[in-house]
Amino acid sequence: MPTLATTVDGLKLPNPFVIGSGPPGTNLSVINRAFKEGWGGVIAKTVSLDASKVVNVSPRYAKLHALSGEVIGWENIELISDRPFHLWIDEFKKCKDGQPKGALIASVMEEYNKDAWTEMIQRCEAAGVDAFELNFSCPHGLPERKMGAAMGQDPEILEEVCGWVKAATKLPVWAKMTPNITHIEEPGRAALRGGATGLSAINTIRSVTGVNLDTLRPEPTVEGYTTPGGYSSKAVKPIALRMVMELATLIRAEFPGRTLSGLGGIESGNDAAQFILLGSDTVQVCTGVMKFGYECVKPMCDELLAFMAKHKFETLDDFKGKSLPYFTTHADLVQKQTARKAAQKAAAATTKVVKSDGEWSGDEFVKQSDALSKG
Ligand SMILES: Cc1cc2nc3c(=O)[nH]c(=O)nc-3n(C[C@H](O)[C@H](O)[C@H](O)COP(=O)(O)O)c2cc1C
Repeated sequence: MPTLATTVDGLKLPNPFVIGSGPPGTNLSVINRAFKEGWGGVIAKTVSLDASKVVNVSPRYAKLHALSGEVIGWENIELISDRPFHLWIDEFKKCKDGQPKGALIASVMEEYNKDAWTEMIQRCEAAGVDAFELNFSCPHGLPERKMGAAMGQDPEILEEVCGWVKAATKLPVWAKMTPNITHIEEPGRAALRGGATGLSAINTIRSVTGVNLDTLRPEPTVEGYTTPGGYSSKAVKPIALRMVMELATLIRAEFPGRTLSGLGGIESGNDAAQFILLGSDTVQVCTGVMKFGYECVKPMCDELLAFMAKHKFETLDDFKGKSLPYFTTHADLVQKQTARKAAQKAAAATTKVVKSDGEWSGDEFVKQSDALSKG
């Protein structure tokens, strides 16, 4: 019987499915619900020391629908948590007092200030959280404070901040990467150099979902205006897979033993299998939970187990990164195809043309038939 149980950075998880930071982990009530449904871990909504600076607007989501009506893309202009830090500390404690089976991971974000990061990390650790995810990737809002993606796009700052956090805690630290960058390996390498135990990828992709053709206003429209937001859901999966592949390749080559949490459009066990085949240790789901509810973890686990049974994989490690060796350069693809065609041609040329019925052979039958059609 295959098992989904896994240990990542010392965290014992009943399965690799983790709630991605966002509305599905936005207060104690919903976090408890996620653990009750059997999620392997929960990454809470990103917190900062001074929530009074966080002011959200509404509407703050815009959806892209397929012709079938299915939501395939989801833009949000939501900020990090607007709930006071002391309330979060209290809720982290209460959550851990309930002894959930999975890991409780605090997502944190602050300004470029060592004391602020240190205070935030130490207070969350004292509250009993199991690990940290550093949000270096929120694409909208707060860039004026050099937070989120504004920090994640600067490898030098990233390395320094990861160093501050590592000095402040012994707990696992995952640095969450922004996809809004040309080469994701650069911030990835900086975070791992700084001491992050793992990476998470991806956060949302900077986007404009559409323009209303009656009002001519871009969406989501707030008082007639908008601002570019972050794109998530099914539509971003191909981009997320590519970035996960690049980060997994970096980890294998330069930081063996460090971990990777993959996310972006995961909605099924088969989606999760693909992220693990490309090197993810865990998989996160955020928008999928907003579409299907917390209970979607059960069919996801079942589908992932069925995939493992089909291939006779006993553990997640049996197939983690198994598809990575099948990436190469385009020039190499051309070379491989040219070589295969030449070999086929040579094999066909060596098939002797049957001159009498006694020369037909069971093994060569199809080739002999083909050779006769060419004369
Ligand atoms: C409404 C919404 C709010 C989000 N808030 C946060 C956040 O506070 N911190 C964070 O690190 N990521 C946040 N994210 C990003 C998600 O955690 C995730 O990286 C992204 O949406 C891609 O995964 P998905 O397609 O499974 O949603 C948010 C996403 C959405 C849709």
